[in-house]
Amino acid sequence: MSQRIVTLISEEEIQKRVKELGAQLTEAYRGKHLVLVGVLKGSFVFLADLARAIDLPCRIEFLGVRSYGEGTTSSGVVQITQDLSRPIEGEDIVLVEDIVDTGLTIAHLLDLFRTRHPSSIKVCALLHKPARTRIQVPVDYLGFTIEDKFVVGYGLDWAEKYRNLPSISVVEASES
Ligand code: IMP
Ligand code: MG
Repeated sequence: MSQRIVTLISEEEIQKRVKELGAQLTEAYRGKHLVLVGVLKGSFVFLADLARAIDLPCRIEFLGVRSYGEGTTSSGVVQITQDLSRPIEGEDIVLVEDIVDTGLTIAHLLDLFRTRHPSSIKVCALLHKPARTRIQVPVDYLGFTIEDKFVVGYGLDWAEKYRNLPSISVVEASES
């Protein structure tokens, strides 16, 4: 059985939406101490485009997190594999995620970051799969809501593959 990659959200649609999110963040964070925190690895493509759509000085940080094994279901365990390089006290944090699925990762990161006393903390996610919510988390800035399908591309992987696809796609099993 081989696999077929079917586009769900095109490169053009993503680029248009990311520019809108960038404009929204530019308005919201004017005069503030904006720090974009990309949750690795999935957010690296989204963060790169989003940062360039924000017309403000801002700091960029990455946080390494492991919440999935090789499979496609959440273990519910969130492990920090790489922490921020500097304190975030008094800063305006935007957590940048590829996708909010069960919500467990973001819930854990919000709890962790609040102990470091930022001035504010918001969540910006490219995708949200509400059907799989296990814990409600605020998604303050959202690209697209999608149905319960496992998606790849634009940073998202399936067992570390497909992160470099420019569109968001679904992997389907096919006969040939
Ligand atoms: P959550 O903790 O269940 O909300 O999941 C967070 C992480 O799981 C995301 O940042 C992704 O890395 C991964 N994930 C969830 N759904 C998908 C998907 O459909 N494709 C690829 N990765 C996913
Ligand atoms: Mg992720």
